[in-house]
Amino acid sequence: MAYVVDFRSDTVTKPCADMRKAMFEAEVGDDVFNDDPTVKKLEETVAKMLNKEAALFVPSGTMSNLVAVMAHCQGRGEEVLLGDQCHIMLYEQGGISQFAGVNPRTVVNKPDGTFDLHEAKSKIRMDNIHFPRTRLICIENTHNFAGGRVIPMAFIQKVKELADSHHLLVHLDGARLMNAVIATGTTPDAITKYCDSVSICLSKGLGAPVGSCLAGNKEFIKRARRHRKALGGGMRQAGVLAAAGLVALEKGIPRLKTDHENAKRLAQGIIDLKCSSVTCDLAATETNMVYLYMGEGVSVMSFYRLCDTVLEGEEEELGQAIKVRICPMSDRCIRAAIHHHITAEHVAMALKKIAFVDKLFQNGEVAKHLPKD
Ligand SMILES: Cc1ncc(COP(=O)(O)O)c(C=O)c1O
Repeated sequence: MAYVVDFRSDTVTKPCADMRKAMFEAEVGDDVFNDDPTVKKLEETVAKMLNKEAALFVPSGTMSNLVAVMAHCQGRGEEVLLGDQCHIMLYEQGGISQFAGVNPRTVVNKPDGTFDLHEAKSKIRMDNIHFPRTRLICIENTHNFAGGRVIPMAFIQKVKELADSHHLLVHLDGARLMNAVIATGTTPDAITKYCDSVSICLSKGLGAPVGSCLAGNKEFIKRARRHRKALGGGMRQAGVLAAAGLVALEKGIPRLKTDHENAKRLAQGIIDLKCSSVTCDLAATETNMVYLYMGEGVSVMSFYRLCDTVLEGEEEELGQAIKVRICPMSDRCIRAAIHHHITAEHVAMALKKIAFVDKLFQNGEVAKHLPKD
């Protein structure tokens, strides 16, 4: 049997024993009637942690962002400013247009996940019958497509100043906000004080099986609750899930430090291998993501498939068949996401396999080893 290293996402973890126990024992009620004490406890805990008036438990980060945009953009013909590489723009099926009727206007993301504030300012609409009304600025921290990088606090503060000076609101997609917190040694509320609403995911590095939370002021959360129901996200005895979320917040946050260490270990290991097919940027590996950049002429899909296949001769050479699962992100890079099922040993095994695959590229043997299907 192959040794499997699953770097596809930090969402692939299975609930730990403490979580399963908490889920089993959770006190529940019908949350659509506001009757579930465990959901309430989770929402209160998150609101307090992010220093907001209220919070709402939602099934996913995608729904959380969508509901946030819907609750902020209340009129027809409204527009959101956001980075062109952010998750809301790239990976949520254009839900804010598709379901909320909100126009996205993009600002070019820099490699560090920020954007130029002059460009953002220039894209705020003036009051003119031809234009939509700019209502909201969305930012993301950590920034997934920027390699899990932490957005500098000074940038977030300036976004808030820009928003305030134009009567706009700020939404933070903080799916991995706690990774930013651990990486910078700050507190969550130090970041969220510049944001009118914040979405955090419990089911990523924190390890819960399901769920995100959206936080903001009471009126905003009241509107978000209505939108959640309209989208089919009103859950009934959701306390079984919220119980896992509470364990995720208690145990998952400090554990992220190990994920960040393993990410650095993987990035450094790849650099040390001096591969010709792949490299990565240690300085940009700030949290739990490692972005692997393909060398000249190396196909992302070939590299990805070779890593995930048991190849002829590898068992003899490596002493063990190894499958490394990674996630192609573009035609030049692949993401390895570290999570709490990944240990230093997994990283070492993954490096062995990557070195083996690299040799195939060096020797021109890729076509021979690629699976036929
Ligand atoms: C930055 C960011 N926001 C939102 C989401 C959406 O979360 P979900 O998969 O729970 O819908 C993700 C998922 O990977 C993400 O990376």
